[in-house]
Amino acid sequence: MKTVKIALLGLGTVGSGVKNILEEKKDQLSQKLFEKTGEKKVIEIKKILVRNTDKDYGVDKAILTDDYAQIINDPQIQIVVELIGGQEPASKYMEQAIEAGKHVVTANKMAIAMSGGSIEDKAREKGVSFMYEASVAGTIPVIRVIEDSLVANEIQKISGIINGTTNYILSKMMNENQSFESALKKAQELGFAEADPTSDVEGYDAMYKIAILSKLAFNIMPDLNDIKRTGIRGVSISDINKARENANTIKFIAQAEKCRDGVRVSVSPLEISKDHSLANVDGAMNAVYITCDNAGEIMLQGAGAGSRPTASAVVSDIFAIAEKL
Ligand code: HSE
Repeated sequence: MKTVKIALLGLGTVGSGVKNILEEKKDQLSQKLFEKTGEKKVIEIKKILVRNTDKDYGVDKAILTDDYAQIINDPQIQIVVELIGGQEPASKYMEQAIEAGKHVVTANKMAIAMSGGSIEDKAREKGVSFMYEASVAGTIPVIRVIEDSLVANEIQKISGIINGTTNYILSKMMNENQSFESALKKAQELGFAEADPTSDVEGYDAMYKIAILSKLAFNIMPDLNDIKRTGIRGVSISDINKARENANTIKFIAQAEKCRDGVRVSVSPLEISKDHSLANVDGAMNAVYITCDNAGEIMLQGAGAGSRPTASAVVSDIFAIAEKL
């Protein structure tokens, strides 16, 4: 039996989801690895980086560490799973892991978009995997679809709802007359919102995600300063009522579209018809709409935030790397 040893960085909403899924689905994952590779393999968490090793996380304290060097210098650890979020120290940790020849899985849209693609380039140079399916649209396998399923296509446009928190808030305002503040509070309680929800409501989170999709679809990581970004704080009750009177709805739409001089990327609340495919994607759900030449139009929908849906995507990346080890 081969043991694929991994380290988790962070044990918050997503980190604990990953830990739980890896424990609960241990046998199923091993069985699937065997079916795919003909080899008996098991995925094991060897270390978890946390800030406070005295805190009770409900895990064996022996696997907790607050010292990243213990992970980076451990030759048995082959995959580092970065779930701290934010730019630093997450970016530095990922670069160090790649430098040490370890494969990296992350859900960190901010670090990827802010790096402008350099972390991925570094991984390519070092010959290790850098996978980030969970960074965009939670559980939806949109990155795999763009990278694998649509290889025979030229993508013309990607648009969608790719922030669960703002979709949850707008849905509650539109469908249940809730106030912005109470809907945001509930989204935070449910674990959808970022540590600093400004990133969600001002559109930074969606901007990072559409930048990543743009890089994948058009091979151009847009300069974040060139992305037209408007958050949802300015959406008033009167905007909601007006949209309702027009039999429309308001959705927070991110889009990247090929144009003559490059790619036009924007994130903003838009009034759309109730008949639009994205109109009934409510709550923390995300949906990504892809327009391309051969396949035509595709819409992918699923949970865009939350512990288990996001962790499900992270585990799929860990599995894909484990398959090759
Ligand atoms: N805060 C993010 C959202 C989490 O609400 O979509 C998932 O990236």
